[in-house]
Amino acid sequence: MAWVYIDELGRHSGEEVTLKGWLYHRRSSGKIHFLLVRDGTGVCQCVALLNKVGTDAFAAADHLGQETSLEVTGAVREDQRAPGGFELTVKRFKVYAPAIDYPITPKEHGVAFLLDLRHLWVRSARQHAILRVRDEVAAAAREFFHERGFVLFDAPILTPTSCEGTTNLFEIDYFGERKAYLTQSGQLYAEAGALALGKVYCFGPTFRAEKSKTRRHLTEFWMVEPEVAFYTLAEDMQLAEDFVAYILRRVLKRRAADLATLERDLEPLKRAAETPYPRISYDEAITRLTAKGLTVKWGDDLGGDEETALSAEFDRPVMVHRYPAECKAFYMKRDPERPAVALCVDMLAPEGYGEIIGGGQREDDYATLRARIVEHGLPLEPLNWYLDLRRYGSVPHAGFGMGLERVVAWICGLHHIRETIPFPRMMERLEP
Ligand code: 4AD
Ligand code: MG
Repeated sequence: MAWVYIDELGRHSGEEVTLKGWLYHRRSSGKIHFLLVRDGTGVCQCVALLNKVGTDAFAAADHLGQETSLEVTGAVREDQRAPGGFELTVKRFKVYAPAIDYPITPKEHGVAFLLDLRHLWVRSARQHAILRVRDEVAAAAREFFHERGFVLFDAPILTPTSCEGTTNLFEIDYFGERKAYLTQSGQLYAEAGALALGKVYCFGPTFRAEKSKTRRHLTEFWMVEPEVAFYTLAEDMQLAEDFVAYILRRVLKRRAADLATLERDLEPLKRAAETPYPRISYDEAITRLTAKGLTVKWGDDLGGDEETALSAEFDRPVMVHRYPAECKAFYMKRDPERPAVALCVDMLAPEGYGEIIGGGQREDDYATLRARIVEHGLPLEPLNWYLDLRRYGSVPHAGFGMGLERVVAWICGLHHIRETIPFPRMMERLEP
């Protein structure tokens, strides 16, 4: 018998097929069982009638627990009322393994309970929708860069030094001989790639040991980081805008069903898919925030509250450029017109989702960069290779990093970032 996935049922109307999956839910009334079967691609209502499956099988079906793994064979019937538009009239079924007292029932559970059972929670329809959106965003990111001739240039995860500052590094004992650190960003390595291949990107897990328990922070998250030789800040911002708009258009087109499952309001997403995105300077941001009654003084980095207030003024992502150099990383190039600010940009998502992209133009002058490393209290020796990029044929170059989970949280309209990754890592959570 042909084994098909639930999302392919439309092509088998009237045929007899086999579904393989798990029992999502069961309802019975007298001579009929409604078995809701899920297989990862969808949920299908399988209708078992006493007079079709026989007495024994009918009685057995009455005891199937939620998440029992099974195989169901029957005829595909189009039915507008059924979830997915098709149902199966059961001829026979086979149980692979029972599931007794599955802990996650259709009733409401608390988040802590669900996070403890994350390995099972990922079987829920809502989680499927989020994880499919994540898959789509990741695939869109890879395709966007690949189509434009960027080369995937994977950065190492074990590194000898810091990229974003020393305060939030995870330290590892490296063979009892030296310390290694989990990477905070692939950027420094992507810069080597840009000077080798012109335009590159890396896309991998990154780590931050910051002690922040906010709904936007994970200690382990995925970042996609393009880096382009000869790009300046303006070109970098254009790339960021094209990139985010591309991702939104693609998710809107291909994951509409998942966004519907999540009851996501599509209007703000559609507006955010429209370019151009506004670009405002940090100075203008301060002016706008002050006008709204917030107390921010020039020189402060923008926190979550400021980002939310600022993004509320726009109906699409806004790019804030030229922050005070003081509050940014050592590698940022300063604006030659005004050295107090860095040639950097943050993209803030609408609807209060905050920073989704951080990037900018890199310091490309050897002596200046060397001095910055020292000023920031970073050791020179492990960054000697990075300085080489300025010793041998240095060029202006720029790039950015986009946090995958932040973008997925925004697109899915989630309050907290923790559901956007299969197994979230946060300050208070390392399990399962
Ligand atoms: O602004 P960040 O720290 O920039 C960098 O790491 C640069 N080296 C990137 C580059 O230019 N190649 O981080 C970039 C993005 C943020 O905008 C945010 O989306 C995400 O990474 N991010 C986090 N996501 C989840 N949890 C955290 N703790 C995050 N920290 C940053
Ligand atoms: Mg940032």
